Amino acid sequence: MSLDDATIAQAVGSAHAAHRDDPGGANASYIPYLASVDPSLFAVAVVTADGRVFSTGDDRFEFAIESISKVFTMALAMEQVGAAAFHAKIGADPTGLPFNSVMALDLNKDRPLSPLVNAGAIASTSLVTATGADDRWNRILSAQRDFAARELQLSDEVNDSEQTTNFHNRAMAWLLYGGDSIFCDPMEAVDVYTRQCSTLITTVDLATMGATLAAGGRNPITGTRVISSGNVPHILAEMTMEGMYTRSGDWAYTVGLPAKSGVGGGIVAVAPGELAIAAFSPPLDDAGNSVRAQAAVADVASELGLNLY
Ligand code: DON
Repeated sequence: MSLDDATIAQAVGSAHAAHRDDPGGANASYIPYLASVDPSLFAVAVVTADGRVFSTGDDRFEFAIESISKVFTMALAMEQVGAAAFHAKIGADPTGLPFNSVMALDLNKDRPLSPLVNAGAIASTSLVTATGADDRWNRILSAQRDFAARELQLSDEVNDSEQTTNFHNRAMAWLLYGGDSIFCDPMEAVDVYTRQCSTLITTVDLATMGATLAAGGRNPITGTRVISSGNVPHILAEMTMEGMYTRSGDWAYTVGLPAKSGVGGGIVAVAPGELAIAAFSPPLDDAGNSVRAQAAVADVASELGLNLY
């Protein structure tokens, strides 16, 4: 049964009104560009599996996709190599440690475990079938565009800011290389991973990307199949286990929807067969999740009765 327009619009509007002035959190400071974004920005959006769009707040503001890109690169690599090979090469277990943890690699023979932490995401980027760095990047950008139903663009400002400060990720790529978990040149993998984090999206783009997963891999705006429906449950499982970093368990317990956050301040949650909820606001908690976006997505999910468990 699909939810009616008035109910969804009401849930989106009241979540925005309830949390627009929530204090707390701080912009990501380890990436210079992100530290400079206006912390008061806040938007909430829903896109349904049948293509209806609801949004409010700063919903035209474009922000960096950051870690949320990991979901769509995972989807592309899985589509290309198959779910079984993807699972065997990357893994599917939460690390229980922060998203950029070197200790997680150390504890696991330099294998990444999850495609939704930096190490596993860099490994997934390297697994994409491509002829070189630009081809790898173009395939990933095109997948992001197919999910968003819009010609998303790279921000040179975000990318330059990250390419000149991503030494930690470069070091992890060499550790992965030593663990036979990088499938192209390690520095090419980090270069392209950094670009994929630097795409600009609006909150509506993000909800559309999630709605494509909610609709079983078919973009509800364009009607185009983006990935096979059989891979969607694997992707949602990964999001449940690691999408909200070290708070993924708390999120499953309280909200009950697969979700993914990024240090740009975006969060998307997917209610399979129904809709996706996205929210954006830059200040993050100590796990790297947007304070206001978490509260807004949780409210909309609860208001619409979407907890899966
Ligand atoms: O690799 C990084 O650290 C960033 N480009 C993205 C990290 C991110 O969004 C992790 N998230 N919360």
